Amino acid sequence: MDQFLIEGGVPLLGEVATSGAKNSALPALAACLLTDEPVILQRIPPVRDIRTMQKLLEHTGARVDELAGGNVVVQASDITKPEAPYEVVKTMRASSLVLGPLVARTGRARVSLPGGCAIGARPINLHIAALEHLGARVEQSHGYIEARADDGLKGNHIVFERITVTGTEDLMMAAVLAQGETVIQNAAREPEVVDLAEMLVKMGARIEGAGTSTIRIQGVSRLYGAEHRIVPDRIEAGTFLIASAISGGELVVTGCEPAHLEALIAKLQQAGVTIADAGPGALRAKAAGHLRSVDMTTEEHPGFATDLQAQFMALMTQAEGISFITEKIFENRFMHALELCRMGADIRIEGRQAIVAGPRKLTSAQAICSDLRASASLVLAALAAEGETVIDRVYHMDRGYERFDEKLAAVGARIRRVASKQSDEKSMEAAS
Ligand code: EPU
Repeated sequence: MDQFLIEGGVPLLGEVATSGAKNSALPALAACLLTDEPVILQRIPPVRDIRTMQKLLEHTGARVDELAGGNVVVQASDITKPEAPYEVVKTMRASSLVLGPLVARTGRARVSLPGGCAIGARPINLHIAALEHLGARVEQSHGYIEARADDGLKGNHIVFERITVTGTEDLMMAAVLAQGETVIQNAAREPEVVDLAEMLVKMGARIEGAGTSTIRIQGVSRLYGAEHRIVPDRIEAGTFLIASAISGGELVVTGCEPAHLEALIAKLQQAGVTIADAGPGALRAKAAGHLRSVDMTTEEHPGFATDLQAQFMALMTQAEGISFITEKIFENRFMHALELCRMGADIRIEGRQAIVAGPRKLTSAQAICSDLRASASLVLAALAAEGETVIDRVYHMDRGYERFDEKLAAVGARIRRVASKQSDEKSMEAAS
């Protein structure tokens, strides 16, 4: 199992490039199951969750080939096993994204139910209910859900009880091959949903309204091969903007999409961070003087992303005053707060709210990653801490950030990856 050793106190300076979005690449890969023709995906980030999804596609009978330059070609000529087994789902909840495409393409799917998760219960009841609305018969037994639609899926009007990102994507992928029209109301408006819709349209789907809360889909009888470039990872780009500010440095984050980062940019500016346009798809972040505490509430897009809450909390430990951080998306996404406190932060948790008093001097400690974004917040805190911080279980980072340590080191961070003695696989099972 790898660890990071980070010596704080070095301002980050220079340029850092954004990778393709993990949360866009995952549904894009699942969408390749909707056609028997080859689909080429560009800017697929080589992170662990992507490798897991590629293995899952291969398990169903699809062929996945990696091309040069982060491109991948998937061909699902024949789906021999429309299944997502427990062994895969337990390591990656987004495996449920194959449910919609498998039922739409083959009329059946067997998908393991995900278990508990470090950040909340995260059930998939809304994905299942939506599929039932399209006429699938769904049964649950032995920890699996089995969905069947022997005569194909039929378009319907679906109102999501609450906004769900992968639920919207799953349903969209099911509806593109259903007979007739599907209207999704209270749909997620995340850029990753829009990216998926654009890819599906290139494959021959008829979709309108992605990016708004009402999406209309006219089913078609088949989809075709296509080529699609994944959107930049807004969460990775946002993490770098915060890294720049917390280290007291000046980073230019390139290859990003500033329009996807508006809520974060507004909060950073309120906190006293200067964010400037640095050319097409590039942003410059510089913390000029003292940081000010600001309150923040996570919301669905275009609100402040829950996937940046942990990193923003790390920043607020260095800001003057009290910051109220409210988490509205997941019920248990404050695991990083305890680790930040061990490094010297003053954070009190009251239900869905974290109250951060700053600035507090952070000092190095041994800290443990509990999930992907919590890990990022610990790395950021370590950049601002005095001494050498040891961060364990960095496989959580590797699930969603491409070479995070190398990218940070290239802009001046004193970060090293070392192998610790424990077995990686063993710890992953325990934490999943
Ligand atoms: N929910 C239900 N039932 C469902 C689906 C969701 O109750 O059937 C609840 C969830 O428990 C949660 C809320 O609805 O409280 C929103 O969850 P959502 O379904 O939107 O989350 P997700 O689709 O499972 C995606 C991202 C997450 C990100 C969330 C919120 C992917 C692969 N994952 O998860 O990303 O936090 O949307 O924006 O797109 C991450 O990258 O670190 C990550 C966790």
